[in-house]
Amino acid sequence: MRWWHNLAAVGALLAALAAAAALTVAGLRSTTSDSKRGHPSARRPPLRFGPGGSFKVALFADLHYGEDAWTDWGPAQDAGSDRVMAAVLDAEKPDFVVYLGDLVTANNLPIPNASLYWDRAVSAARGRGVPWAAVFGNHDDMAFEWPPEWFSPDGVPPLRCPPPSPSGNSPSTDRGCSFRGTPRIDLMTTEISNNRLSYSSNGPKDLWPGVSNYVLQVLSRNRDDPALLMYFLDSGGGSYTEVVSSAQVKWFQSQSQFLNPDGRIPELIFWHIPSTAYVKVAPKAKSEIRKPCVGSINKEDVAPQVAEWGMMDVLAKRPSVKAIFVGHNHGLDWCCPYEKLWLCFARHTGYGGYGNWPRGARIIQITENSFSTVSWIRMENGTKHSDVTLSS
Ligand SMILES: *[C@@H]1O[C@H](CO)[C@@H](O)[C@H](O)[C@H]1NC(C)=O
Ligand SMILES: *[C@@H]1O[C@H](CO)[C@@H](O)[C@H](O)[C@H]1NC(C)=O
Repeated sequence: MRWWHNLAAVGALLAALAAAAALTVAGLRSTTSDSKRGHPSARRPPLRFGPGGSFKVALFADLHYGEDAWTDWGPAQDAGSDRVMAAVLDAEKPDFVVYLGDLVTANNLPIPNASLYWDRAVSAARGRGVPWAAVFGNHDDMAFEWPPEWFSPDGVPPLRCPPPSPSGNSPSTDRGCSFRGTPRIDLMTTEISNNRLSYSSNGPKDLWPGVSNYVLQVLSRNRDDPALLMYFLDSGGGSYTEVVSSAQVKWFQSQSQFLNPDGRIPELIFWHIPSTAYVKVAPKAKSEIRKPCVGSINKEDVAPQVAEWGMMDVLAKRPSVKAIFVGHNHGLDWCCPYEKLWLCFARHTGYGGYGNWPRGARIIQITENSFSTVSWIRMENGTKHSDVTLSS
């Protein structure tokens, strides 16, 4: 019997080693897709459910930093966005922040490097020691649009170029003059390399120009197994089409198959621009929001991606996918069911961007045992509304 016993022990050890190896690979696979660019994931401690068994996420959507910096109201509205995020973070004390796109209004930034405004957006989470991740919206790398009043009498925009380098006409000097906007890759690389608390990623190169494509695992409170998967996708816009591509669909399928083959781990999805499925479930624009939808403002039509390349079918067929969260429409904050999952808007957080509806942030609270996802909206003035159970 003894050798049997030992064999079983060896078998158990091998199984444990294999499981550990799989977990390591999963961790590597999900976070080092841009290892050539030195994603410092090795330095990042794993995300984990808290001692109370829950994980709370605050969504900051459509901050639109950097508008009209040459006026009074531009800087004033950026100060307003700082205040909203501070109020929400102090009231909710989230474990994690998701910057849900349009952190900056690049088409309005008269500086060659939008990272400076981007950094102001993420400084809200950084200043309170809260880790975060970001996805791109359509305004983050839009090309600069000259305000007409800046045009000189002969119709030529007055170029402001950086001082010439000592070596003469370097290519970077020319780039500084063009105001073509800061590319997604540069924005993200700067964020990641300057911030220990950033869990953002440039995503696999074969999905570029879509950049913010990555998965984060949140480990169980008391085991080193993932208890939640958060998928971030780049829904385009700005320098390219507003779409989730079929390449991203294939990427999602291979990631989810690899990390969660039996669908045991619940999954949440984050991107910026609503898919066309949102149009199907939307309450009629400007009508009252009725059950089963939950929300407080319904002031405009859904402005969806330009096409659907299959992502919604794939997500709707996975019972482990509980909800999708988007921003983009500042006048909508509802959640509506779609097949077996929920489609949710965030809440316009920034004073930048169109619309004057009161600012706030959607909060998501995930509980590990027994699993549930609930959400609500926290306003700048501290009020809380639109509680909804997204899964239980
Ligand atoms: C933009 O600014 C950031 C922060 O100051 C800096 O780290 C980065 O290198 C700059 N990028 C470019 C392309 O100048
Ligand atoms: C807070 O703002 C909301 C609008 O979002 C308003 O309805 C409510 O009356 C305000 N509450 C307080 C206490 O100011």
